[in-house]
Amino acid sequence: MRLSVVNLKGGTGKTVTAVHLAAGLARQGRTLLVDADPQGSALSWSEEAADLPCSVVSLPVRDLPKRLPPLLQGIDHAVIDTPPGDRVIVRGAVAASETAIVPMPTSIMDLDRLRPTLDLIEEVEALTPVRVFVLLTRVRTATKSAHVTREVLEELGIALLDNQIPLRENLNASFGTVPGDDGPYTAVLDELRAREVAA
Ligand SMILES: Nc1ncnc2c1ncn2[C@@H]1O[C@H](COP(=O)(O)OP(=O)(O)OP(=O)(O)O)[C@@H](O)[C@H]1O
Ligand SMILES: [Mg+2]
Repeated sequence: MRLSVVNLKGGTGKTVTAVHLAAGLARQGRTLLVDADPQGSALSWSEEAADLPCSVVSLPVRDLPKRLPPLLQGIDHAVIDTPPGDRVIVRGAVAASETAIVPMPTSIMDLDRLRPTLDLIEEVEALTPVRVFVLLTRVRTATKSAHVTREVLEELGIALLDNQIPLRENLNASFGTVPGDDGPYTAVLDELRAREVAA
């Protein structure tokens, strides 16, 4: 699987999602986590969590489609964490991946800010095939905002993963730790795999 984790808005859960998905994929095969964010949060995470089961490289560059393939020799899975705001890096990351995951908290403000990210992914899709899924994060289950966000996205015809990531203190505090296989990201990977097979 070659995933990019993107949202031009800051603080939506990209890095937590990228590291947890990379750790999950590393249980299935050799996995490379690419930190394309100049802030370097995923890289710092890996420095703290010395026994993270995947390799991690920092590549905050604009030409990932060119630079990534040589690094993927002998690698089964790759996950790219991306910065907020930097359209050029994000565009390259999406173009270098098969699937773009867009983590998004369930709020009206996040819904309102989603369009530029989807437009950018569409620009890439016009040139190279890429699948896109919104992943709801920090979800307070059974709240109105969670319900409304899912409903609005479905009405807009935006591909949305069935699995979602709840608001959890252990996820908030997971920076610098090695994610286990008992969290909600395991179900997300299962769903991505099932959708890949069905495609
Ligand atoms: N499921 C969750 N439950 C609780 N807190 C979470 C969850 N997911 C992420 N967080 C917290 O939300 C904040 C933003 O997450 P994260 O750093 O992954 O976002 P980001 O999109 O990578 O941010 P940036 O755009 O700055 O790179 C962090 O403090 C993180 O610990
Ligand atoms: Mg981040």
